[in-house]
Amino acid sequence: MDIQQLKGLIQQMTLEEKIAQLLQLTAHFHEGTDNESQVTGPMEEMGITEPMVTGSGSVLGLSGAQAVIDVQQSYLKKSRLGIPLMFMADVVHGFKTIFPIPLAIGCSWDLELAEKSAEIAAKESAVSGIHVTFAPMVDLVRDPRWGRVMETTGEDPYLNGMFARAFVRGYQGSNLKEETDRLAACVKHFAAYGAPEGGRDYNTVNMSERQLREQYLPAYKAALDEGCEMVMTSFNTVDGIPATGNEKLMRGILRDEWGFDGVLISDWASIREMIAHGAAEDDREAAYRAIRAGVDIEMMTPCYVRHLPELVESGKVDEALIDEAVLRILRLKDKLGLFENPLRAADPEREKEILFCEEHRRVSYELAAKSSVLLKNDGVLPLRKDARVALIGPYAESNDILGWWSCVGEKEDAAPLASALKERFTGTLVVSEGCGIDSMTPEQLEAALETARSADIVVLALGEESAMSGEGGSRTNIRLPQAQLELVKWLKKLGKPMAAVIFNGRPLDLHGIFDEADAVLEAWFPGSEGGAAIADILTGRVNPSGRLTMSFPQSVGQVPVYYNHFNTGRPMDPSKSDERYVSKYIDSPNDPLLPFGFGLSYTSFEYSDLTLSSPEMKADEPITVQVKVTNTGERAGIETVQLYVRDVAGEVVRPLRELKGFERLELQPGESQTATFTLTEEQLRYHHSDLGFASDPGSFRVFVGANSRDTLEASFKLV
Ligand code: BGC
Repeated sequence: MDIQQLKGLIQQMTLEEKIAQLLQLTAHFHEGTDNESQVTGPMEEMGITEPMVTGSGSVLGLSGAQAVIDVQQSYLKKSRLGIPLMFMADVVHGFKTIFPIPLAIGCSWDLELAEKSAEIAAKESAVSGIHVTFAPMVDLVRDPRWGRVMETTGEDPYLNGMFARAFVRGYQGSNLKEETDRLAACVKHFAAYGAPEGGRDYNTVNMSERQLREQYLPAYKAALDEGCEMVMTSFNTVDGIPATGNEKLMRGILRDEWGFDGVLISDWASIREMIAHGAAEDDREAAYRAIRAGVDIEMMTPCYVRHLPELVESGKVDEALIDEAVLRILRLKDKLGLFENPLRAADPEREKEILFCEEHRRVSYELAAKSSVLLKNDGVLPLRKDARVALIGPYAESNDILGWWSCVGEKEDAAPLASALKERFTGTLVVSEGCGIDSMTPEQLEAALETARSADIVVLALGEESAMSGEGGSRTNIRLPQAQLELVKWLKKLGKPMAAVIFNGRPLDLHGIFDEADAVLEAWFPGSEGGAAIADILTGRVNPSGRLTMSFPQSVGQVPVYYNHFNTGRPMDPSKSDERYVSKYIDSPNDPLLPFGFGLSYTSFEYSDLTLSSPEMKADEPITVQVKVTNTGERAGIETVQLYVRDVAGEVVRPLRELKGFERLELQPGESQTATFTLTEEQLRYHHSDLGFASDPGSFRVFVGANSRDTLEASFKLV
């Protein structure tokens, strides 16, 4: 349909029908589903005790081809104007084939694979009836206490933007009407949800507009530049106003400044939550604020359906605002081809063929193999082929490795490390649980010690259970749970070499394991094929190549700790640790334990010959940065070469380092390759005090290396 036809359709709609389009409910309120159990909470208050017929425009969280077909068909049978429902769900890192959590995908630095994972997730969910995914989540994060760091790709605005684009390309493809195996993407959570005070979920966010624009907004913008169809608001306040009712943010920046004309949806109940925030007296005022801010769809609360009719009739809200929102929603339905093809790709037969198929699992394996990060290795990994290995810990035989937001993925489909290792390892493997996630009995401990005594090396399988991160999963103590630290202490006394594999959803405080173990492999929640991928890394079939995209703190007391911070007026000189009046702690280094970009390999790489094409850059003459990288070890490996820049003096102070580019090189033993980067004046721009976006002439330092700390250095002047 063209715009005129859509507008014509809107003209035929009653006010009530229009407002119904603005409501999103879970499936329990729609005919065709098993809807008995769940008429609770806000829906009960709406007086909804029976399935809705014309009452909503979209459905949240229902999947399964037949279930979706049933709901859509029974809805359309009764719908006066035949406007199809849109089905949306949180397809965040896979649908049935689960990929590593997004934080882990970030650590692969592999944009192509990230895109491929989104394409597969789209395909699986599209045949299961879904039209829109609430992804990518691109919130920038600096605080590992926040449980939702697992959903994002990390602490860097540039890298997050690159991944945002890759995910959007993968989900959406290039034409949603023709490519019915793709989904519309919904970037979230706009804005700055990743910066809650104290790392506590849903908490206040407070920052200057300059910082918001500089660090936090670019990744959302990148997703929109890639054509992302939808945006979700965030739960937090932005400069004291809940994002969901924040006119400056939503109308001002998102719509007017960036020209976003797609659908804006609230987060779950976030319109009504304006009351608890203290920004609305009641549902009516909350509805008023949200519609004025430009929120098109209300998720799971009744403020719009209950109050917009009266707000329009009394003249307080212009009906044009409602029409605008309805038009955006209908336009998306049209782009998805739903008017002609309301069942779209939903197909119970194809669903059986496609979900969790061999090809999808292979990509999940590859991504898991590329996103694990080797944090330490004093020569104990890979395992000697004939070693006697004791695999000990709560994650030895656990299949809780999918991570939060794992859709219809089933743990039972994921091989735990022990069974994957058994299939692959040529030496002897003995296994013991040692303890639960956070409990230990004397019998468990004794059995573990016994198992370890007979072994040449102990491989520890430790971690957080998946519910310890994700939404509502904030922690103040981000160490491994106490029982596991106890287990490590006891095993350490045996004096055997130890390698630890850690499954978790956030950077941890590694006290009690990092010094104790001879090797540490960060497996994250690696998804459906994670067991196999980690086993292949342990045995050396795969050479680890992941690089951290979020710093690992020394302790929680350092948080937030991130690589692109300012220098301060009294930077600490690490060689003069007894100086008092400098910016430091008296009980901890300033630097994180492991910096952004860090990760080891089973081979080694040497950097040399850093050259710039010119000592001066002009606005229209970019410079080229080159560095030679040599694989100096005995195995093939992947190195992620990272380029950072520092603006030495700006009108506004600039971070010590900012990532400006990266290149992944695959190098055979002894092989050298040159990484080449182009640096333009545009990449040196930033928001000045007047929020103008410009560069500063003057000196710049360039750093190239294996991570944000270990780099070669050169400099140039912008003239
Ligand atoms: C989360 C969103 C999610 C929504 C719908 C909310 O609680 O914050 O990320 O998309 O639920 O499931």
